[in-house]
Amino acid sequence: MNSETKIDYLVIGAGVAGLRAALELAGQGQVLVATKESVRESNTHYAQGGIAVAMEGDADVALHLEDTIAAGDGLVNRAAAATLVSEGPVLVRELIERGAKFDRKGGGEAGELIRTREAAHSLPRILHANGDATGAEIGRALAVLARSEERIHFAEWTTVTELVLADGRVAGADLVDREGRRQRVSVRAVLLASGGAGQVYPETTNPAVATGDGVALAARAGAELADMEFYQFHPTALALPGVPAFLLSEALRGEGAWLVNARGERFMERYSPMLELAPRDVVARAVAREGMDGGQVYLDMRHVKSIDLSRRFPGISAFLAEHGLALATDLIPIRPAAHYMMGGVRTDLDGRTNLPGLYAAGEAACTGLHGANRLASNSLLEGLVFGARAGRAMLADGLPSTDVNLSAGNPKFAPVPKVEAAGGESNDAGTESEKVASLLGELRAMMALRAGILRDEAGLREGIAMQQRCETGIEALARGAAPNRQLAEAQSLCLVAGAILRSALAREESRGAHFRVDFPRRDDADFQQHSVYDWAGKTVRFQAE
Ligand code: SIN
Repeated sequence: MNSETKIDYLVIGAGVAGLRAALELAGQGQVLVATKESVRESNTHYAQGGIAVAMEGDADVALHLEDTIAAGDGLVNRAAAATLVSEGPVLVRELIERGAKFDRKGGGEAGELIRTREAAHSLPRILHANGDATGAEIGRALAVLARSEERIHFAEWTTVTELVLADGRVAGADLVDREGRRQRVSVRAVLLASGGAGQVYPETTNPAVATGDGVALAARAGAELADMEFYQFHPTALALPGVPAFLLSEALRGEGAWLVNARGERFMERYSPMLELAPRDVVARAVAREGMDGGQVYLDMRHVKSIDLSRRFPGISAFLAEHGLALATDLIPIRPAAHYMMGGVRTDLDGRTNLPGLYAAGEAACTGLHGANRLASNSLLEGLVFGARAGRAMLADGLPSTDVNLSAGNPKFAPVPKVEAAGGESNDAGTESEKVASLLGELRAMMALRAGILRDEAGLREGIAMQQRCETGIEALARGAAPNRQLAEAQSLCLVAGAILRSALAREESRGAHFRVDFPRRDDADFQQHSVYDWAGKTVRFQAE
Protein backbone atom coordinates (compact mmCIF):
# COMPACT_ATOMS: atom_id res chain seq x y z
CA MET A 1 0.00 0.00 0.00
CA ASN A 2 1.10 3.59 -0.53
CA SER A 3 1.11 5.48 2.73
CA GLU A 4 -1.49 7.91 1.45
CA THR A 5 -4.17 7.82 -1.19
CA LYS A 6 -6.98 9.99 -2.38
CA ILE A 7 -10.17 8.23 -3.39
CA ASP A 8 -13.76 9.36 -3.68
CA TYR A 9 -15.66 6.94 -1.49
CA LEU A 10 -14.59 4.48 1.19
CA VAL A 11 -16.98 1.63 1.93
CA ILE A 12 -16.15 -0.34 5.07
CA GLY A 13 -17.52 -3.86 4.76
CA ALA A 14 -18.24 -6.13 1.81
CA GLY A 15 -21.58 -7.64 2.77
CA VAL A 16 -24.84 -6.94 0.98
CA ALA A 17 -25.15 -3.30 2.14
CA GLY A 18 -21.56 -2.38 1.29
CA LEU A 19 -21.53 -4.01 -2.13
CA ARG A 20 -24.93 -2.65 -3.11
CA ALA A 21 -23.84 0.86 -2.11
CA ALA A 22 -20.55 0.48 -3.99
CA LEU A 23 -22.46 -0.33 -7.17
CA GLU A 24 -24.31 3.00 -6.87
CA LEU A 25 -21.16 4.95 -6.04
CA ALA A 26 -19.15 3.52 -8.93
CA GLY A 27 -21.38 5.48 -11.28
CA GLN A 28 -19.66 8.67 -10.24
CA GLY A 29 -16.39 8.00 -8.51
CA GLN A 30 -13.57 5.75 -7.41
CA VAL A 31 -14.69 3.45 -4.62
CA LEU A 32 -12.50 1.54 -2.18
CA VAL A 33 -14.20 -1.36 -0.38
CA ALA A 34 -12.18 -2.28 2.70
CA THR A 35 -12.85 -5.59 4.39
CA LYS A 36 -11.03 -7.34 7.21
CA GLU A 37 -10.79 -10.70 5.52
CA SER A 38 -11.79 -11.86 2.04
CA VAL A 39 -14.84 -10.33 0.37
CA ARG A 40 -16.78 -13.51 1.11
CA GLU A 41 -16.36 -13.27 4.89
CA SER A 42 -19.29 -11.26 6.22
CA ASN A 43 -22.53 -11.84 8.12
CA THR A 44 -24.24 -11.77 4.71
CA HIS A 45 -22.41 -14.92 3.66
CA TYR A 46 -23.73 -16.89 6.63
CA ALA A 47 -27.40 -15.84 6.30
CA GLN A 48 -29.18 -19.10 5.70
CA GLY A 49 -32.94 -18.83 5.72
CA GLY A 50 -33.61 -16.24 3.10
CA ILE A 51 -34.71 -12.82 2.07
CA ALA A 52 -38.23 -11.67 2.96
CA VAL A 53 -39.87 -9.80 0.11
CA ALA A 54 -43.47 -9.09 -0.89
CA MET A 55 -43.58 -9.41 -4.67
CA GLU A 56 -47.33 -9.83 -5.17
CA GLY A 57 -48.47 -6.22 -5.20
CA ASP A 58 -49.80 -3.64 -2.78
CA ALA A 59 -51.76 -5.91 -0.43
CA ASP A 60 -48.73 -8.20 -0.08
CA VAL A 61 -46.48 -5.21 0.65
CA ALA A 62 -48.95 -3.88 3.23
CA LEU A 63 -48.97 -7.25 5.02
CA HIS A 64 -45.16 -7.37 5.09
CA LEU A 65 -45.22 -3.91 6.65
CA GLU A 66 -47.70 -4.99 9.32
CA ASP A 67 -45.68 -8.12 10.17
CA THR A 68 -42.47 -6.07 10.48
CA ILE A 69 -44.20 -3.57 12.77
CA ALA A 70 -45.81 -6.26 14.92
CA ALA A 71 -42.53 -8.15 15.41
CA GLY A 72 -40.75 -4.93 16.43
CA ASP A 73 -42.87 -4.66 19.61
CA GLY A 74 -44.04 -1.07 19.40
CA LEU A 75 -40.77 0.53 18.38
CA VAL A 76 -40.51 0.17 14.61
CA ASN A 77 -39.96 3.38 12.66
CA ARG A 78 -42.92 3.07 10.31
CA ALA A 79 -41.34 5.18 7.57
CA ALA A 80 -38.22 2.98 7.58
CA ALA A 81 -40.28 -0.20 7.45
CA ALA A 82 -42.49 1.20 4.67
CA THR A 83 -39.36 2.08 2.69
CA LEU A 84 -37.99 -1.45 3.14
CA VAL A 85 -41.09 -3.32 2.06
CA SER A 86 -42.01 -1.02 -0.83
CA GLU A 87 -38.53 -0.60 -2.37
CA GLY A 88 -37.43 -4.17 -1.69
CA PRO A 89 -39.33 -5.94 -4.48
CA VAL A 90 -37.79 -3.74 -7.20
CA LEU A 91 -34.28 -4.35 -5.91
CA VAL A 92 -34.80 -8.11 -5.57
CA ARG A 93 -36.13 -8.32 -9.14
CA GLU A 94 -33.13 -6.29 -10.31
CA LEU A 95 -30.77 -8.63 -8.43
CA ILE A 96 -32.37 -11.65 -10.07
CA GLU A 97 -32.04 -10.02 -13.50
CA ARG A 98 -28.38 -9.30 -12.73
CA GLY A 99 -27.47 -12.86 -11.76
CA ALA A 100 -28.72 -13.97 -8.33
CA LYS A 101 -30.31 -17.41 -8.48
CA PHE A 102 -33.07 -18.19 -6.00
CA ASP A 103 -34.66 -21.62 -5.64
CA ARG A 104 -37.54 -22.26 -8.05
CA LYS A 105 -40.16 -24.93 -8.48
CA GLY A 106 -38.88 -27.62 -10.79
CA GLY A 107 -35.28 -26.70 -10.05
CA GLY A 108 -34.60 -24.73 -13.25
CA GLU A 109 -34.32 -21.01 -13.92
CA ALA A 110 -37.83 -20.50 -15.29
CA GLY A 111 -40.06 -22.02 -12.62
CA GLU A 112 -41.96 -20.07 -10.02
CA LEU A 113 -39.87 -18.76 -7.11
CA ILE A 114 -40.29 -20.93 -4.00
CA ARG A 115 -41.39 -19.04 -0.92
CA THR A 116 -41.06 -20.30 2.62
CA ARG A 117 -42.35 -19.08 5.94
CA GLU A 118 -40.46 -18.05 9.06
CA ALA A 119 -41.47 -16.89 12.50
CA ALA A 120 -43.93 -13.97 12.81
CA HIS A 121 -44.59 -13.84 9.05
CA SER A 122 -48.28 -14.19 8.32
CA LEU A 123 -47.61 -16.03 5.06
CA PRO A 124 -44.75 -17.65 3.12
CA ARG A 125 -42.75 -14.79 1.55
CA ILE A 126 -39.13 -15.77 2.02
CA LEU A 127 -37.02 -16.53 -1.01
CA HIS A 128 -34.05 -18.80 -0.56
CA ALA A 129 -31.06 -19.96 -2.57
CA ASN A 130 -29.35 -23.35 -2.68
CA GLY A 131 -31.74 -24.42 0.08
CA ASP A 132 -30.11 -22.75 3.05
CA ALA A 133 -27.33 -20.62 1.55
CA THR A 134 -29.23 -17.48 0.60
CA GLY A 135 -26.76 -14.92 1.89
CA ALA A 136 -23.87 -16.65 0.14
CA GLU A 137 -25.72 -16.48 -3.19
CA ILE A 138 -26.67 -12.82 -2.80
CA GLY A 139 -23.10 -11.99 -1.75
CA ARG A 140 -21.72 -13.95 -4.70
CA ALA A 141 -23.95 -12.19 -7.21
CA LEU A 142 -23.15 -8.73 -5.84
CA ALA A 143 -19.42 -9.47 -5.68
CA VAL A 144 -19.41 -10.56 -9.34
CA LEU A 145 -21.10 -7.29 -10.28
CA ALA A 146 -18.76 -5.20 -8.13
CA ARG A 147 -15.63 -6.90 -9.43
CA SER A 148 -16.72 -6.13 -12.98
CA GLU A 149 -16.79 -2.38 -12.21
CA GLU A 150 -13.48 -0.69 -13.00
CA ARG A 151 -14.08 1.97 -10.42
CA ILE A 152 -14.57 -0.42 -7.49
CA HIS A 153 -11.34 -1.47 -5.79
CA PHE A 154 -11.05 -3.97 -2.97
CA ALA A 155 -8.71 -3.78 0.01
CA GLU A 156 -9.08 -7.26 1.50
CA TRP A 157 -7.48 -8.22 4.83
CA THR A 158 -7.56 -4.54 5.74
CA THR A 159 -8.81 -3.05 9.00
CA VAL A 160 -9.95 0.55 9.33
CA THR A 161 -8.53 1.76 12.63
CA GLU A 162 -9.80 5.33 12.73
CA LEU A 163 -11.89 7.88 10.90
CA VAL A 164 -10.19 11.18 10.18
CA LEU A 165 -12.06 14.42 10.77
CA ALA A 166 -11.24 17.66 8.98
CA ASP A 167 -13.27 20.87 8.72
CA GLY A 168 -16.02 19.38 10.90
CA ARG A 169 -16.65 16.37 8.74
CA VAL A 170 -15.37 12.86 8.14
CA ALA A 171 -12.79 13.27 5.43
CA GLY A 172 -10.60 10.22 5.62
CA ALA A 173 -9.63 7.03 7.39
CA ASP A 174 -6.59 5.15 8.61
CA LEU A 175 -6.16 1.58 7.39
CA VAL A 176 -3.83 -1.23 8.38
CA ASP A 177 -3.32 -4.42 6.40
CA ARG A 178 -2.38 -7.86 7.73
CA GLU A 179 1.30 -7.14 7.23
CA GLY A 180 0.97 -4.15 9.54
CA ARG A 181 1.34 -1.64 6.68
CA ARG A 182 -0.62 1.51 7.27
CA GLN A 183 -2.28 3.89 4.92
CA ARG A 184 -4.36 7.04 5.22
CA VAL A 185 -7.02 7.68 2.62
CA SER A 186 -8.72 11.00 2.03
CA VAL A 187 -12.27 10.75 0.79
CA ARG A 188 -15.44 12.58 -0.07
CA ALA A 189 -17.46 10.31 2.20
CA VAL A 190 -17.30 7.07 4.17
CA LEU A 191 -19.98 4.37 4.37
CA LEU A 192 -20.00 2.08 7.39
CA ALA A 193 -21.39 -1.25 6.23
CA SER A 194 -19.39 -3.42 8.57
CA GLY A 195 -22.23 -5.50 10.00
CA GLY A 196 -22.93 -6.47 13.57
CA ALA A 197 -21.07 -7.31 16.74
CA GLY A 198 -22.00 -10.87 17.66
CA GLN A 199 -18.47 -11.43 18.93
CA VAL A 200 -19.28 -9.32 21.97
CA TYR A 201 -21.00 -12.46 23.29
CA PRO A 202 -19.32 -15.85 23.81
CA GLU A 203 -22.01 -17.73 21.88
CA THR A 204 -22.83 -16.25 18.49
CA THR A 205 -23.91 -17.33 15.05
CA ASN A 206 -21.72 -14.54 13.61
CA PRO A 207 -18.28 -15.01 12.06
CA ALA A 208 -15.11 -13.74 13.75
CA VAL A 209 -15.19 -10.49 11.76
CA ALA A 210 -18.41 -9.33 13.47
CA THR A 211 -16.84 -7.08 16.10
CA GLY A 212 -18.89 -3.89 15.80
CA ASP A 213 -16.11 -1.90 14.15
CA GLY A 214 -18.43 0.47 12.29
CA VAL A 215 -20.31 1.34 15.46
CA ALA A 216 -17.07 1.98 17.32
CA LEU A 217 -15.45 4.04 14.56
CA ALA A 218 -18.58 6.17 14.31
CA ALA A 219 -18.96 6.67 18.05
CA ARG A 220 -15.33 7.69 18.51
CA ALA A 221 -15.70 10.21 15.68
CA GLY A 222 -18.77 11.72 17.40
CA ALA A 223 -21.70 9.94 15.76
CA GLU A 224 -24.74 8.92 17.79
CA LEU A 225 -25.73 5.29 18.37
CA ALA A 226 -29.33 4.18 18.75
CA ASP A 227 -31.22 1.24 20.28
CA MET A 228 -28.05 -0.55 21.34
CA GLU A 229 -29.87 -2.45 24.12
CA PHE A 230 -31.69 -4.55 21.52
CA TYR A 231 -29.45 -7.49 20.61
CA GLN A 232 -31.31 -10.31 18.96
CA PHE A 233 -30.58 -13.85 20.09
CA HIS A 234 -31.40 -16.58 17.60
CA PRO A 235 -33.27 -19.34 19.46
CA THR A 236 -31.79 -22.26 17.58
CA ALA A 237 -28.03 -22.49 17.38
CA LEU A 238 -26.47 -25.93 17.58
CA ALA A 239 -25.46 -26.87 21.14
CA LEU A 240 -22.66 -29.42 21.12
CA PRO A 241 -19.68 -29.22 23.46
CA GLY A 242 -16.66 -27.68 21.73
CA VAL A 243 -18.63 -26.90 18.55
CA PRO A 244 -19.35 -23.28 17.50
CA ALA A 245 -22.93 -22.05 17.78
CA PHE A 246 -23.80 -23.01 14.21
CA LEU A 247 -27.04 -21.42 12.99
CA LEU A 248 -30.02 -23.75 12.57
CA SER A 249 -32.22 -21.60 10.38
CA GLU A 250 -35.65 -20.46 11.42
CA ALA A 251 -36.75 -21.91 8.09
CA LEU A 252 -36.52 -25.32 9.81
CA ARG A 253 -39.43 -24.23 12.01
CA GLY A 254 -41.06 -22.73 8.94
CA GLU A 255 -41.01 -26.26 7.49
CA GLY A 256 -42.54 -27.72 10.65
CA ALA A 257 -39.79 -28.25 13.25
CA TRP A 258 -40.90 -28.45 16.88
CA LEU A 259 -39.02 -27.36 19.97
CA VAL A 260 -38.98 -29.88 22.82
CA ASN A 261 -37.48 -29.80 26.29
CA ALA A 262 -35.50 -32.38 28.22
CA ARG A 263 -38.77 -34.11 29.19
CA GLY A 264 -39.76 -34.40 25.56
CA GLU A 265 -42.55 -31.78 25.90
CA ARG A 266 -43.38 -29.45 23.04
CA PHE A 267 -43.23 -26.40 25.31
CA MET A 268 -43.96 -23.37 23.08
CA GLU A 269 -47.70 -23.63 23.77
CA ARG A 270 -46.95 -22.30 27.26
CA TYR A 271 -45.32 -19.17 25.80
CA SER A 272 -47.25 -18.11 22.69
CA PRO A 273 -50.30 -19.13 20.64
CA MET A 274 -48.01 -18.81 17.62
CA LEU A 275 -46.01 -21.76 19.01
CA GLU A 276 -42.64 -22.27 17.28
CA LEU A 277 -43.40 -19.42 14.86
CA ALA A 278 -43.75 -16.77 17.56
CA PRO A 279 -41.50 -13.70 17.22
CA ARG A 280 -37.84 -14.51 17.67
CA ASP A 281 -37.42 -12.78 21.03
CA VAL A 282 -40.32 -14.78 22.50
CA VAL A 283 -38.90 -18.09 21.26
CA ALA A 284 -35.35 -17.25 22.39
CA ARG A 285 -36.56 -16.48 25.93
CA ALA A 286 -38.64 -19.66 26.00
CA VAL A 287 -35.65 -21.78 24.92
CA ALA A 288 -33.47 -20.06 27.53
CA ARG A 289 -36.03 -20.65 30.29
CA GLU A 290 -36.57 -24.30 29.36
CA GLY A 291 -32.79 -24.76 29.31
CA MET A 292 -32.25 -23.30 32.78
CA ASP A 293 -30.66 -25.62 35.33
CA GLY A 294 -28.92 -27.53 32.59
CA GLY A 295 -32.01 -28.95 30.88
CA GLN A 296 -31.20 -29.53 27.20
CA VAL A 297 -33.63 -28.21 24.61
CA TYR A 298 -33.97 -29.79 21.18
CA LEU A 299 -35.19 -29.05 17.70
CA ASP A 300 -37.26 -31.96 16.46
CA MET A 301 -38.02 -32.62 12.78
CA ARG A 302 -38.44 -36.36 12.99
CA HIS A 303 -42.18 -36.04 12.25
CA VAL A 304 -41.65 -33.98 9.06
CA LYS A 305 -42.18 -36.42 6.22
CA SER A 306 -43.47 -34.11 3.49
CA ILE A 307 -40.06 -32.87 2.31
CA ASP A 308 -36.60 -34.31 1.81
CA LEU A 309 -34.82 -32.49 4.62
CA SER A 310 -31.30 -33.06 3.39
CA ARG A 311 -32.20 -31.61 -0.03
CA ARG A 312 -34.12 -28.66 1.40
CA PHE A 313 -31.35 -27.88 3.94
CA PRO A 314 -28.11 -29.14 2.38
CA GLY A 315 -25.70 -26.88 4.29
CA ILE A 316 -27.25 -27.54 7.68
CA SER A 317 -27.51 -31.27 6.96
CA ALA A 318 -23.85 -31.46 5.96
CA PHE A 319 -22.74 -29.65 9.11
CA LEU A 320 -24.88 -31.88 11.31
CA ALA A 321 -23.60 -34.99 9.55
CA GLU A 322 -20.03 -33.98 10.46
CA HIS A 323 -21.20 -34.31 14.06
CA GLY A 324 -23.12 -37.55 13.63
CA LEU A 325 -26.60 -35.97 13.53
CA ALA A 326 -29.42 -35.94 10.94
CA LEU A 327 -32.55 -33.78 10.89
CA ALA A 328 -34.76 -36.69 9.82
CA THR A 329 -33.78 -39.07 12.61
CA ASP A 330 -32.27 -37.17 15.53
CA LEU A 331 -33.22 -34.67 18.18
CA ILE A 332 -30.88 -31.72 17.53
CA PRO A 333 -29.57 -30.02 20.71
CA ILE A 334 -29.98 -26.24 20.61
CA ARG A 335 -29.25 -23.07 22.58
CA PRO A 336 -29.88 -19.39 21.87
CA ALA A 337 -26.91 -17.43 20.47
CA ALA A 338 -26.28 -13.75 19.73
CA HIS A 339 -27.32 -13.15 16.15
CA TYR A 340 -28.25 -9.63 15.09
CA MET A 341 -27.71 -6.07 16.33
CA MET A 342 -30.97 -4.13 15.98
CA GLY A 343 -29.24 -0.96 17.17
CA GLY A 344 -26.31 0.72 15.52
CA VAL A 345 -25.15 4.03 14.13
CA ARG A 346 -28.17 6.33 14.11
CA THR A 347 -29.10 7.30 10.56
CA ASP A 348 -31.90 8.79 8.55
CA LEU A 349 -33.52 6.75 5.79
CA ASP A 350 -30.64 7.61 3.43
CA GLY A 351 -27.86 6.43 5.69
CA ARG A 352 -26.85 9.90 6.87
CA THR A 353 -25.45 10.02 10.39
CA ASN A 354 -25.21 13.20 12.46
CA LEU A 355 -21.65 13.68 11.11
CA PRO A 356 -21.25 15.17 7.63
CA GLY A 357 -19.35 12.78 5.40
CA LEU A 358 -20.29 9.69 7.45
CA TYR A 359 -23.01 7.27 6.34
CA ALA A 360 -24.06 3.84 7.58
CA ALA A 361 -26.22 1.04 6.19
CA GLY A 362 -27.24 -2.52 6.98
CA GLU A 363 -26.65 -4.09 10.36
CA ALA A 364 -24.13 -1.40 11.37
CA ALA A 365 -26.85 1.24 11.05
CA CYS A 366 -30.01 1.92 13.01
CA THR A 367 -32.90 3.50 11.14
CA GLY A 368 -35.37 2.15 13.69
CA LEU A 369 -36.58 -0.30 11.05
CA HIS A 370 -36.39 -3.34 13.32
CA GLY A 371 -37.66 -1.68 16.47
CA ALA A 372 -37.03 -3.94 19.43
CA ASN A 373 -37.01 -7.22 17.51
CA ARG A 374 -36.18 -7.81 13.84
CA LEU A 375 -38.60 -9.82 11.75
CA ALA A 376 -36.83 -12.91 10.40
CA SER A 377 -35.12 -12.56 7.01
CA ASN A 378 -35.62 -8.80 6.81
CA SER A 379 -31.89 -8.15 7.10
CA LEU A 380 -30.70 -9.11 3.61
CA LEU A 381 -33.48 -6.94 2.20
CA GLU A 382 -32.40 -4.14 4.54
CA GLY A 383 -28.85 -4.35 3.17
CA LEU A 384 -30.08 -4.11 -0.41
CA VAL A 385 -32.55 -1.27 0.14
CA PHE A 386 -30.61 0.90 2.56
CA GLY A 387 -27.23 0.17 0.94
CA ALA A 388 -28.57 1.47 -2.36
CA ARG A 389 -30.17 4.49 -0.69
CA ALA A 390 -26.99 5.38 1.19
CA GLY A 391 -24.93 5.13 -2.00
CA ARG A 392 -27.34 7.45 -3.81
CA ALA A 393 -27.34 9.92 -0.89
CA MET A 394 -23.53 10.01 -0.81
CA LEU A 395 -23.56 10.99 -4.47
CA ALA A 396 -26.42 13.45 -4.11
CA ASP A 397 -24.83 15.23 -1.14
CA GLY A 398 -21.87 16.02 -3.39
CA LEU A 399 -19.30 16.52 -0.66
CA PRO A 400 -16.00 17.75 -2.03
CA SER A 401 -12.80 15.82 -1.68
CA THR A 402 -10.79 17.12 1.26
CA ASP A 403 -7.06 16.78 1.36
CA VAL A 404 -6.24 15.12 4.66
CA ASN A 405 -2.57 15.19 3.98
CA LEU A 406 -1.69 15.07 7.63
CA SER A 407 0.87 12.31 7.61
CA ALA A 408 3.90 14.56 7.90
CA GLY A 409 2.77 16.35 11.04
CA ASN A 410 0.63 13.68 12.68
CA PRO A 411 2.41 11.58 15.28
CA LYS A 412 -0.38 8.98 15.12
CA PHE A 413 0.40 8.36 11.50
CA ALA A 414 3.97 7.51 10.76
CA PRO A 415 4.07 4.81 8.09
CA VAL A 416 5.68 1.66 9.44
CA PRO A 417 6.28 -1.54 7.53
CA LYS A 418 5.36 -4.10 10.22
CA VAL A 419 3.41 -4.19 13.46
CA GLU A 420 6.48 -5.63 15.18
CA ALA A 421 8.61 -2.72 14.06
CA ALA A 422 6.52 -0.27 16.05
CA GLY A 423 5.06 -2.60 18.66
CA GLY A 424 8.31 -3.48 20.40
CA GLU A 425 9.94 -6.86 20.87
CA SER A 426 8.16 -9.71 19.16
CA ASN A 427 8.04 -11.69 22.43
CA ASP A 428 6.24 -8.77 24.03
CA ALA A 429 3.87 -8.65 21.09
CA GLY A 430 2.96 -12.28 21.81
CA THR A 431 2.32 -11.50 25.45
CA GLU A 432 0.33 -8.38 24.61
CA SER A 433 -1.79 -10.39 22.24
CA GLU A 434 -2.51 -12.96 24.95
CA LYS A 435 -3.44 -10.19 27.37
CA VAL A 436 -5.88 -8.73 24.85
CA ALA A 437 -7.41 -12.18 24.27
CA SER A 438 -7.74 -12.76 28.00
CA LEU A 439 -9.45 -9.39 28.61
CA LEU A 440 -11.85 -10.10 25.75
CA GLY A 441 -12.65 -13.54 27.17
CA GLU A 442 -13.67 -11.89 30.45
CA LEU A 443 -15.69 -9.23 28.63
CA ARG A 444 -17.63 -11.80 26.63
CA ALA A 445 -18.37 -13.98 29.65
CA MET A 446 -19.64 -10.91 31.48
CA MET A 447 -21.86 -9.90 28.55
CA ALA A 448 -23.54 -13.32 28.51
CA LEU A 449 -24.18 -13.10 32.24
CA ARG A 450 -25.15 -9.44 32.53
CA ALA A 451 -26.48 -8.34 29.15
CA GLY A 452 -27.79 -11.56 27.65
CA ILE A 453 -31.42 -12.62 27.25
CA LEU A 454 -32.35 -11.69 30.84
CA ARG A 455 -31.07 -8.53 32.54
CA ASP A 456 -31.48 -6.58 35.77
CA GLU A 457 -30.15 -3.38 37.28
CA ALA A 458 -27.63 -4.92 39.66
CA GLY A 459 -26.17 -7.13 36.96
CA LEU A 460 -25.96 -4.32 34.44
CA ARG A 461 -24.17 -2.08 36.95
CA GLU A 462 -21.67 -4.84 37.70
CA GLY A 463 -21.27 -5.34 33.96
CA ILE A 464 -20.50 -1.65 33.43
CA ALA A 465 -17.84 -1.73 36.16
CA MET A 466 -16.22 -4.76 34.53
CA GLN A 467 -16.47 -3.22 31.05
CA GLN A 468 -14.66 -0.13 32.31
CA ARG A 469 -11.85 -2.25 33.74
CA CYS A 470 -11.59 -4.09 30.45
CA GLU A 471 -11.54 -0.85 28.48
CA THR A 472 -8.81 0.59 30.69
CA GLY A 473 -6.74 -2.57 30.18
CA ILE A 474 -7.20 -2.58 26.41
CA GLU A 475 -6.42 1.14 26.11
CA ALA A 476 -3.25 0.66 28.15
CA LEU A 477 -2.15 -2.10 25.79
CA ALA A 478 -3.04 0.02 22.76
CA ARG A 479 -0.94 2.95 23.92
CA GLY A 480 2.43 2.75 22.28
CA ALA A 481 1.51 -0.24 20.11
CA ALA A 482 1.15 0.11 16.37
CA PRO A 483 -2.47 -0.13 15.25
CA ASN A 484 -3.40 -3.68 14.33
CA ARG A 485 -6.54 -5.70 13.77
CA GLN A 486 -6.60 -7.45 17.13
CA LEU A 487 -6.34 -4.24 19.11
CA ALA A 488 -8.80 -2.43 16.87
CA GLU A 489 -11.35 -5.22 17.32
CA ALA A 490 -10.81 -5.32 21.08
CA GLN A 491 -11.40 -1.57 21.28
CA SER A 492 -14.54 -1.96 19.17
CA LEU A 493 -15.92 -4.76 21.31
CA CYS A 494 -15.31 -2.82 24.53
CA LEU A 495 -17.09 0.20 23.13
CA VAL A 496 -20.02 -1.85 21.87
CA ALA A 497 -20.31 -3.65 25.22
CA GLY A 498 -20.41 -0.31 27.04
CA ALA A 499 -23.12 0.98 24.71
CA ILE A 500 -25.26 -2.16 25.16
CA LEU A 501 -24.90 -2.18 28.95
CA ARG A 502 -25.64 1.51 29.45
CA SER A 503 -28.56 1.54 27.05
CA ALA A 504 -29.97 -1.60 28.70
CA LEU A 505 -29.64 0.00 32.13
CA ALA A 506 -31.45 3.14 30.98
CA ARG A 507 -34.41 1.26 29.47
CA GLU A 508 -36.43 0.38 32.57
CA GLU A 509 -39.00 -1.81 30.85
CA SER A 510 -39.11 -5.05 28.84
CA ARG A 511 -39.67 -4.87 25.11
CA GLY A 512 -38.65 -7.14 22.27
CA ALA A 513 -35.16 -8.51 22.72
CA HIS A 514 -34.57 -6.45 25.87
CA PHE A 515 -35.97 -8.22 28.94
CA ARG A 516 -35.49 -6.66 32.37
CA VAL A 517 -36.34 -9.12 35.13
CA ASP A 518 -36.82 -6.10 37.44
CA PHE A 519 -39.13 -4.33 34.94
CA PRO A 520 -40.88 -7.25 33.26
CA ARG A 521 -43.58 -5.21 31.50
CA ARG A 522 -43.60 -3.03 28.40
CA ASP A 523 -44.01 0.63 29.38
CA ASP A 524 -45.35 2.61 26.44
CA ALA A 525 -45.95 5.71 28.57
CA ASP A 526 -42.25 6.26 29.26
CA PHE A 527 -40.29 4.11 26.84
CA GLN A 528 -41.98 3.91 23.45
CA GLN A 529 -38.96 5.81 22.21
CA HIS A 530 -35.54 5.06 20.81
CA SER A 531 -32.48 5.20 23.02
CA VAL A 532 -29.67 7.42 21.78
CA TYR A 533 -26.20 6.77 23.19
CA ASP A 534 -23.48 9.39 23.28
CA TRP A 535 -20.15 7.65 23.70
CA ALA A 536 -18.14 10.70 24.73
CA GLY A 537 -20.47 11.59 27.59
CA LYS A 538 -21.49 7.95 28.30
CA THR A 539 -25.09 9.17 28.39
CA VAL A 540 -28.36 7.72 27.11
CA ARG A 541 -31.38 9.80 26.18
CA PHE A 542 -34.71 8.70 24.76
CA GLN A 543 -36.49 10.27 21.86
CA ALA A 544 -39.16 9.55 19.28
CA GLU A 545 -38.11 8.86 15.67
C1 SIN B 1 -32.30 -17.86 9.84
O1 SIN B 1 -32.10 -18.47 8.79
O2 SIN B 1 -32.92 -18.30 10.79
C2 SIN B 1 -31.74 -16.49 9.98
C3 SIN B 1 -32.60 -15.56 9.26
C4 SIN B 1 -32.48 -14.23 9.85
O3 SIN B 1 -31.76 -14.02 10.83
O4 SIN B 1 -33.16 -13.35 9.37
